[in-house]
Amino acid sequence: MADAVQTPQASFKPRIFSGIQPSGGLTLGNYLGALKRFVEKQDEGIETIYCLVDMHAITVWQEPERLRQQTREGAAAFIAAGIDPKRSILFNQSQVSAHAELGWIFNCIARMGWMSRMTQFKDKAGKNSENVSLGLFAYPSLMAADILTYHATMVPVGEDQKQHLELCRDIAIKFNNDYGVNFFPVVEPLIEGAATRVMSLRDGTKKMSKSDPSDQSRINLTDDADAIAQKIRKAKTDPEALPSEEKGLEGRPEAENLVGIYAGLSGTSKDAVLKQFGGGQFSGFKAALVDLAVEKLAPIADEMRRLLADPSHIDAILGEGAARADAIAAPIMREVKDIVGFVRSR
Ligand code: TYM
Repeated sequence: MADAVQTPQASFKPRIFSGIQPSGGLTLGNYLGALKRFVEKQDEGIETIYCLVDMHAITVWQEPERLRQQTREGAAAFIAAGIDPKRSILFNQSQVSAHAELGWIFNCIARMGWMSRMTQFKDKAGKNSENVSLGLFAYPSLMAADILTYHATMVPVGEDQKQHLELCRDIAIKFNNDYGVNFFPVVEPLIEGAATRVMSLRDGTKKMSKSDPSDQSRINLTDDADAIAQKIRKAKTDPEALPSEEKGLEGRPEAENLVGIYAGLSGTSKDAVLKQFGGGQFSGFKAALVDLAVEKLAPIADEMRRLLADPSHIDAILGEGAARADAIAAPIMREVKDIVGFVRSR
């Protein structure tokens, strides 16, 4: 019997990889766009590998002691949000050498033109592009290595990572074509849910970000109930009542953002939220949002504080995760070296 023609994807088993930079405290954007969904994927029973990408973090200057602290804090956030280090692999990138090794090989696959079109590089470099690190330019190529060194097939991320994942697909396809192999999967981005792009609480046209100078613009996962309540009450809105359908949110970025946050936290859709709150004033909606956000987020902050009291326990979890990650990545890297033509005699 003739074998069925296999698409490149068909021959790879489902495996999820995703990462978060420990370049600052995690925000509600990281939680709704990424972390909460990482937990859902783990709970669906898919093999999940999650990484604190400390090597990506140093593409911009990081004070060493803070980087170490933020990496532990990131790990605590994963665990407090529901990542079980027995069911998922949780580790920090620099402890598994395959990332750097494959990252270099991908630097030789990716084209300058592709990299120059990355909007996140252009945004981060701004007018200062002569003076940013070479690592910042190569950032998406290391990101492709993170994913492909595990032959991961699916990558849950927020909207802002879409272009980087398209580049990851291009790198996999070019590697496979250049070497005449079907070695790397063409990954599928998973950009799902009502809060794939959480915006600043001060300006609905700007992404909520850990690097925004204003702390009022974001909810940090470490914020206590009072801080969460105060930031939501002060969040920018407009003078109109809430619409009763999603299309009524058009041109109202702040309203759309708060409705999206409510939907993300409650696991429903913006439409469902508007069915409940449409026609009402923001004051009532904000009070409900405060209650919901405190109910969902305050226990995470409490658990993080508890975990961070014992950093050696966190380090042990990351070390164990790194050993398990390495056991998957190392044999794949050996094959890559053979494909590329490196002599491997030990
Ligand atoms: P980072 O650390 O900027 O963000 C981590 C994850 O959080 C999502 N996210 C958001 N989602 C919704 N609204 C927001 N305001 C918001 N801010 C951040 C991001 O989309 C991301 O999913 N390059 C990645 C890290 C990375 C990675 C990888 C991701 C390195 N290697 C491999 C996936 C696979 C980054 O900078 O994420």
